[in-house]
Amino acid sequence: MILVTGGAGFIGANFVLDWLAQSGEAVVNLDKLTYAGNLETLASLKDDPKHVFVQGDIGDSELIDRLLAEHQPRAVLNFAAESHVDRSIHGPEDFVHTNVLGTFRLLESVRGYWSGLAPESKQAFRFLHVSTDEVYGSLSATDPAFTEENKYEPNSPYSASKAASDHLVRAWHHTYGLPVLTTNCSNNYGPFHFPEKLIPLMIVNALAGKPLPVYGDGMQVRDWLYVKDHCSAIRRVLEGGKLGETYNVGGWNEKPNIEIVNTVCALLDELRPRADGRSYREQITYVTDRPGHDRRYAIDAHKLERELGWKPAETFDTGIRKTVEWYLDHAEWVRNVQSGAYRDWVKKQYEAAA
Ligand code: NAD
Ligand code: DAU
Repeated sequence: MILVTGGAGFIGANFVLDWLAQSGEAVVNLDKLTYAGNLETLASLKDDPKHVFVQGDIGDSELIDRLLAEHQPRAVLNFAAESHVDRSIHGPEDFVHTNVLGTFRLLESVRGYWSGLAPESKQAFRFLHVSTDEVYGSLSATDPAFTEENKYEPNSPYSASKAASDHLVRAWHHTYGLPVLTTNCSNNYGPFHFPEKLIPLMIVNALAGKPLPVYGDGMQVRDWLYVKDHCSAIRRVLEGGKLGETYNVGGWNEKPNIEIVNTVCALLDELRPRADGRSYREQITYVTDRPGHDRRYAIDAHKLERELGWKPAETFDTGIRKTVEWYLDHAEWVRNVQSGAYRDWVKKQYEAAA
């Protein structure tokens, strides 16, 4: 079996659902259930004996030691993190706590477990760390896309904490020989995405008749990847990745934010037209920019294609349509994640940016 951390969040839950749909191998899913973790996303696995959910912190060494000893996983996949850049600007401490200290403690527990394995299991074991393209910093309009050789130049508390975690993972391989793999992925989108991030926030606000807040001039560029393609890349790296190596994962879909927002509006105009017949575009509102806002990210995913034969299955057009349709069909999931804590966050973030 495998142990997944952060498997009640956006990407982790998509990964667990896909994994269990495609392989017979059991999953122990450890998640702290912060505001971003949601068991409703995993409701379809309630009676699946192959899914064991444990609420807990990756920094709780006693718990992790116990889970490793009890379940004897052949791999640990670390998705758990504080993941939202804007939240990291308002309150960086949780990011250092989970992304840096939590990853350190998890690595130490895994190292202890791995050291005690029999030679064959020890050789087969993998620790896969899920990271981000944001560790490479910001590109100008003409810079080439990030390769695995780019320098780390993180600019936000979030990306700095993820960069620190990547360095720890690298060092645990170099110093202790822990069999690690790291993936650095671009912006994901798709089902079960928490509506604090750009695409789900725009869909949810549009349908609620609220403003669509675009930071600054809306010309910042992100490279979008449908979440299920990220999951397939992780499966591929787990299966065939070279120990100690990093793999960039991206969708070859660079787009300025305003184009994303316009596309979401156009799809909603088609699929769920406004009662007054006007376009959702009328709700677009330019607001104060994010402090330290990175201008452009772009991923060169050639290494993953060349060495492991991975390519994304979705284009942006197919993926974004599926995503908008998913949100239209899952109004109850959205309602349930919009708890009191979510409303407090939205008030704090967008009142300050207005
Ligand atoms: P998310 O915020 O939706 O989910 C994070 C999950 O981790 C939540 O379920 C949360 O409860 C859990 N968690 C937080 N702290 C924890 C702790 N201390 N112990 C155990 N569980 C904890 O994030 P996501 O978007 O699914 O991102 C998952 C991973 O992928 C993160 O490591 C993130 O840095 C990385 N990543 C995300 C993107 C993206 O576009 N969302 C892109 C590249 C990489
Ligand atoms: O690049 C990978 C990263 O992508 C991941 O590591 C992060 O976990 C993930 O949150 C994401 O970070 P971003 O900051 O790029 O994503 P976000 O959805 O917050 O913002 C996308 C772009 O949209 C960014 O340029 C900021 C802008 N934006 C965002 C929000 C929430 C707006 O213009 N308005 C908004 O209200």
